Amino acid sequence: MVSQPLFTTLAPTIEWRAGDLLLLDQTRLPHEMVVENVADVAAVWRAIRELRVRGAPAIGVAAAYGLCIAMRDSTALPIAQFRAELERHANWLETARPTAVNLSWGLRRMLRHARATDAKDAATLYEALVDEAMRIHAEDRALCEGIGEHGMPLIAQDCGVLTHCNAGALATTGLGTATAPIYAAHRAGVAFRVYADETRPLLQGARLTAFELQQAGVDVTLIMDSAAASIMSQGLIDLVIVGTDRVAANGDFANKIGTLGLAIAANHYGIPFYVACPSSTLDLETPAGARIEIEERDAEEVTHLAGQRIAPDGMKARNPAFDVTPHALVTGFITELGIVRAPFERSLRSLFATEGSAA
Ligand code: MRU
Repeated sequence: MVSQPLFTTLAPTIEWRAGDLLLLDQTRLPHEMVVENVADVAAVWRAIRELRVRGAPAIGVAAAYGLCIAMRDSTALPIAQFRAELERHANWLETARPTAVNLSWGLRRMLRHARATDAKDAATLYEALVDEAMRIHAEDRALCEGIGEHGMPLIAQDCGVLTHCNAGALATTGLGTATAPIYAAHRAGVAFRVYADETRPLLQGARLTAFELQQAGVDVTLIMDSAAASIMSQGLIDLVIVGTDRVAANGDFANKIGTLGLAIAANHYGIPFYVACPSSTLDLETPAGARIEIEERDAEEVTHLAGQRIAPDGMKARNPAFDVTPHALVTGFITELGIVRAPFERSLRSLFATEGSAA
């Protein structure tokens, strides 16, 4: 779909280079472009926990390579011990963040591959793990392309698209999920406007989405989260597209805090509300959204802004990083295989039950 690179100045989110894992530090963007060569598995865990690599699909790819980093220096171990260490590291990496299912999906897939590989020595098994991580990485790019292809027709000439947080190239290793239809339409010469929510408290919309869309030459306007409903009421938004961290079997989904409010407002104003969802983010084992674990992050992210305290000393704060939107508010899921519409329980399962989803 895309013939030329979208970004000339943006380093890849994740790169595997001759046995090294390179991560673009997203906490420093947009002002500094710092690429970290991740030294060991503890550093991978911290990079995920501290959002230096973030966004559900990118977390899955980073975790798969993270297991390779964990085992890189253990190829002299007896094979049984190597396998036991691999399981231990996978279980630990999975604790880095709870909500994005791509983390456990990527790790479980690596473990399945290891169990299915009949290697006589640890060095051979290590090579098989690297191959599998590279396959997960390549597939992630292809999933984004598929979402772009199927979502592009939703973006009409002169329309306004609202997005939340960053479900962009930086959240994946390809075109992004929510941004894939945007980039595809932009490449096809469609003229349209994007409104990016700033996304308190960590401002992924302002720092990352606004940045990458601007870099790609897309017409993007940054708005405060609290302005979204008002902008909808003015008729400026024709379509909402958001990403997701986990979609339950009934179509309820988790995404960055604030998504639920957007869905309610879009429903009120009769604006179509789409969720871009690669199969790696579908969790058919979780029946409904109420069962999705929501990450609660440090209260300091709310009481402080850019390292400066903004709330009174001693102030209590809650900081749920995600919310769950009920499937009744979803117009459709844009997947790599096509757009899935209600009833989601049936349509998601029939499209993906045999497609290697997170289930
Ligand atoms: O806390 P983050 O920055 O990892 O949250 C990311 C989001 O909520 C994204 O919308 C979601 O992971 C989808 S990314 C394609």
